Amino acid sequence: MSNDTVGRTLLVAFLLCIVCSVFVSAAAVGLRDQQKANQAAEIKRNILTAAGYADQLAAGEPINTLFARIDARLVDLETGEYVEQDPATYNARKAAKDSKLGLKIPAELDQAGIKRRARLSPVYLVKKEDAISRIILPVHGKGLWSTMYGFIALNADTQTVASLSFYEHGETPGLGGEIDNPRWRASWVGKTWADEAGTPIIDVVKGQVNPADPKAGSQIDGLSGATLTANGVEYTMRYWAGEHGFGPYLAKIRGQK
Ligand SMILES: Cc1cc2nc3c(=O)[nH]c(=O)nc-3n(C[C@H](O)[C@H](O)[C@H](O)COP(=O)(O)O)c2cc1C
Repeated sequence: MSNDTVGRTLLVAFLLCIVCSVFVSAAAVGLRDQQKANQAAEIKRNILTAAGYADQLAAGEPINTLFARIDARLVDLETGEYVEQDPATYNARKAAKDSKLGLKIPAELDQAGIKRRARLSPVYLVKKEDAISRIILPVHGKGLWSTMYGFIALNADTQTVASLSFYEHGETPGLGGEIDNPRWRASWVGKTWADEAGTPIIDVVKGQVNPADPKAGSQIDGLSGATLTANGVEYTMRYWAGEHGFGPYLAKIRGQK
């Protein structure tokens, strides 16, 4: 009997599809844990970079060894108080969706465009001789195409920026994706996030900052061709710096000095 029939060709194609789909599904399921572990390591790597450990990471020091030096805590954002719960097992994204663990953000306060947030948030403290030297805060908010997730590190004054990084977003490479550009991220360092009263004042301008402008200390150059993403970053920062974000927590830290 001839093998060269339409029926046999279709049968071979069908069987090939089945075999390939089994391989792809098995790989997806089998690698899921590995992917989760890689994502968790990437987040830790971002926190460590924000903490000022980039050189140690580059030198190959293990992520978990370095991470043990950071004091991770959970904060009740409304009261600004620490909560005695393990931040390592806490998932703020899941909590935001939960009716008890999360809350709806009133539209007039929702500058970040995220609709809901978790009641508790992790914070990461870098300490030198028991005094806080950096406070690393997770932030997220809408860009043009996506929700951008990152970390802002503040100096001990709770007002000036030590670093900014995003570990997840879907903005266009070369346009909104320039939020990852090391030069743009470096332009945030030393800028004033919030004034002495804790009011958010960071301002991503359209075009370039005029160094002679009295407000230059809280202004960041815009992203050419990506003003919508740049505005999203500014609004995200303003939400998380404000009263509905980390404002009460940062006020508590200032009060402790
Ligand atoms: C395919 C495509 C992708 C774009 N991606 C982005 C983006 O990621 N972020 C952004 O702000 N603007 C993006 N834009 C441009 C926006 O539509 C808008 O023109 C721009 O944000 C305005 O910024 P400008 O005033 O600096 O030109 C994109 C435009 C196109 C056509």
